This record gives sequence, C-alpha cells and structure tokens, in this order.
Amino acid sequence: MNDAVVSPPPPGTEGGPRVLLEVFGCQMNKLDGELVAGALRKGGYDFTDADEQADVVLMVTCSIRDQAEHRVHSHLGELAKLKASRPDMVLGVLGCMASREGGDLLKRWPALDFVAGTRDFPSVSRLVDEVRADRTRIVAVDGDPRVSETRDLAVRPHKARAFITVARGCDKPCTYCVVPRTRGEEVSRSKRDILEEARALVDDGVREITLLGQTVNAWGRHEGSSLGELLYALQDLSGLDRVRFTTSHPEEMDEPLIDAMADCPKAGMFLHLPPQSGSSRMLRRMARGYTAERYREIVQQLRARIPGVELAGDIIVGFPGETDEDFELTAQLMRDVRFSQAFLFRYSPRPGTPAWGRLEDDVPDALKRERLATLMALQSSIQEARHTAMHGTRHQVLVEGRSRRDERRLFGRNLASDRIVFEGDPSLVDELVELEIVDSTPLTLVGRQLAAAASGSASRAASATSTSSAD
Ligand code: 5AD
Ligand code: SF4
Repeated sequence: MNDAVVSPPPPGTEGGPRVLLEVFGCQMNKLDGELVAGALRKGGYDFTDADEQADVVLMVTCSIRDQAEHRVHSHLGELAKLKASRPDMVLGVLGCMASREGGDLLKRWPALDFVAGTRDFPSVSRLVDEVRADRTRIVAVDGDPRVSETRDLAVRPHKARAFITVARGCDKPCTYCVVPRTRGEEVSRSKRDILEEARALVDDGVREITLLGQTVNAWGRHEGSSLGELLYALQDLSGLDRVRFTTSHPEEMDEPLIDAMADCPKAGMFLHLPPQSGSSRMLRRMARGYTAERYREIVQQLRARIPGVELAGDIIVGFPGETDEDFELTAQLMRDVRFSQAFLFRYSPRPGTPAWGRLEDDVPDALKRERLATLMALQSSIQEARHTAMHGTRHQVLVEGRSRRDERRLFGRNLASDRIVFEGDPSLVDELVELEIVDSTPLTLVGRQLAAAASGSASRAASATSTSSAD
C-alpha cells in the first residue's frame, strides 16, 4: 500500500469545475486514476491539487488491509467538514471500497454524493455530471466486467512509461484476500487490444510498458493464449525498450513463461512473485495452491534460465495459526531467496474473505509487529549486502524523475527494477543512461553517470553486470 498519490494536475479545461483526484493503493489503482482523469478532462473538467479549491473530490480507494480503508474514512471526515461550508462540493468514492461497501458508504457518510466500483470507472465523468445537475446520490457498482480501456494519451503522467491493464479481477481462492470480491472474476483483454494500445503508446513516446493484472501470468489462459505469447509479440514492437509485468502468481509460473522471459530481452530481469509464506502449512491455509518447496523450485528454474534475474516478494506475517516454526520457515525462505525487494504485511482480517469468520485471527498484534520487525531487519541486511556487492557494476537505467528527497538527484530503474539515484541534468528524464554504482544504503543505490546510452532497443548485455545476485 502506498500513501495517497495526488496525481499531478493534468491539463484540463480551463475554467471548468475543478477536480481533486486522489489515488490510494496499487498500480492498478494508479492506472484507473489516470483513465478517470482522461475521461473527466474530455468531459470539460479542470484539475487542482488542493481540497479547498476543489469543486469535486474523488478518491480511488483500496480495501486490501483495514488500515487502507481507515485512511480514506479519516479523509472523508475532513472533507465532510469542508463540505458543510461548501454544500455544492461533490464527493465520490471510487474503486475497491465502493465495490465492497456500496450503498453502506453513503449511509455512513451523508456528505458523500456517489460511489463507483472497480468496474464503473468508465462512467465516472457522467456520474459527476449527474450529481452536479440533479444533486442525486448514486450507487454504481455493477459495471461491465469486460475490460475496455478508453485512453486519453494527452493525460499520461509519464512520457516514457505507461501501464496497460491486461486482465482485471481474480479467480484465486486466497483465503485472506478481498480482491476477488472487490474486483470480481478474472477477465483478460484480447491480445489484439493490448497490442493496439501498446503500439499507440509507443508512437506517443513510451519506451517502457508495464502489463498489469492481479495474476498477470494467468493472462489469456481461458482463451488458449499465454503471457509468454504476449511477451514475444511485444518483443517485436519497434521503439519499445522494456516490458514489465506484475503481479505473478507462483501457481501460474510455468516453463514456457520462464523460457519466454529468457528469450525476450525487453522483458527485463525482474519478477514480482509473492510467496506470502515460507511454510507449506500456512500456504495450504491461505489456499495458495503451491508449497514452499515448489516456490523454491520455481526460483531455481528462473535463476538457472535467466542469470541475474531479481525477485520481489510479498509476505504476510501473523496469518491465523502461524507458529514460531512457521514464521522461522518464512524467514529462512527470505534468507535463501534473497529478494531484491520485499513487501511485508501484518495479516489484516477482511470481511467477506474465505478466512473471515472461519479462521480466528489468533496471532496477537504485538507478536505480528514483532515478526514484522524481525523480517524488516532481515530484509534490510539482505539488501545492504546485495547493494554493497553491486558497487562498481554498470547499469542501463531509464530515468524516471527527480528524487523527492534531494532535488539535485535524479532516479531511474535498471532492467532488474533496482531504483538508482544519481546526480544529473533534468533533461535526462525519460532517457536511458549508463550508471556505475558508487555508493549505497540498505534502501538506496547511488550511481554515477557514465555516458548517455543510445536510445535503441534494450540490451540485457548492457546491464548484464548489473544484478550479480548476492547468492
Ligand atoms: N492482510 C495482510 N496483507 C494482505 N495482502 C492481501 N490481503 C491481505 C490481508 N488481508 C497482501 C498480500 C498481497 C499484497 C498486495 O497485500 O501479500 O500480495
Ligand atoms: Fe488476492 Fe490471491 Fe488474487 Fe492475489 S491471487 S489478488 S492475493 S486472491
């Protein structure tokens, strides 16, 4: 979960009603926010990044953990106060919380004008119009499950990078997870649609595409295609340098996909493959569909086939019934796999999930916190060693922007998705540059610019030295 992101106000219709669009949660939400901004812009709206100036405040929300919802509720509390003095203001909650709670949200928050679920994003601009015209309160939570994207190229936040939704929803039975409830069943987009969108984005200056899906590596399986096939097709797209995809499910990881990653240099050397736990007993209770041994086997296959591939993983601590032994198995998995990034969470029971009411949340919060702190310290030491081992290595990096902490610094990512900061001219944003690692902390890699890389196709060789795994 990320903090709320207030998207940089896109160019809107000057003088039109001003919208503040806040996005909480995952990358899928960020892309949904982008699409909503595009539709609103077309509908004659303008944008602002301040509550006080906004005529319309929309929040793209996340339900994955209790805390994520808390944050939205407390913001709604503040907005309700603001609205008391400005009754014309329109407030809308979009996305996962709207899908999960629907009309209950309107009951709880009299100041709220409408909710629109994860499949109702295409109607948001019309819903705002309706509320403004009629002052009605609207619950829209039963949109079309088919994935249709109408993208306005003019409001893309990054010139050289873009996300493409390839599948929405999730059919997995993970007992802790609310996503199948909030985003509905898994629906893949057609290969033709995806490639058309990719072509349009590349023609508009995009050099890195990230394919998004809740279980992205299950893409196309109902239609007899596979993510590997899509990677090969994108590999052939001239002008495109990099293709990422997230998030992959270990159960859907097979050899043809690993082969496709190995054969497609643009696919990079990175995989987000959440294990969730290192204990097969816990994985069974979570209904993940694989054992810890199978997870380790996949990692071995990946590393054998794609030397230097880096893995990111999500872990949940304190799942019901987690003993010290289960927890130690997770820590051991982390020591063995040595993730380049790890997203560590305390289990948060979610209403409506298979575990809700069936598996008692029996790990005390203090113990969850202690286990989380242990894994954070472990991951920090893994990253520190990994980063130190990378000193002197060279990396081709796509520059993403200015560092928030230090304005003089830029940051970008290599093919293995390592974030590297360096001092450089702001004109390098959206360009590929060559860096050498000169310093690091557990969280940060610091590079020195060598020379601007030719803006040709991605070369795995160029960053072959980049990701010497610390194994
Ligand atoms: N509690 C804690 N973490 C969760 N995640 C999903 N559901 C829960 C929950 N109920 C984590 C998983 C998932 C990531 C996006 O969020 O690790 O991979
Ligand atoms: Fe949730 Fe599991 Fe689907 Fe991931 S695969 S979105 S954790 S149900």
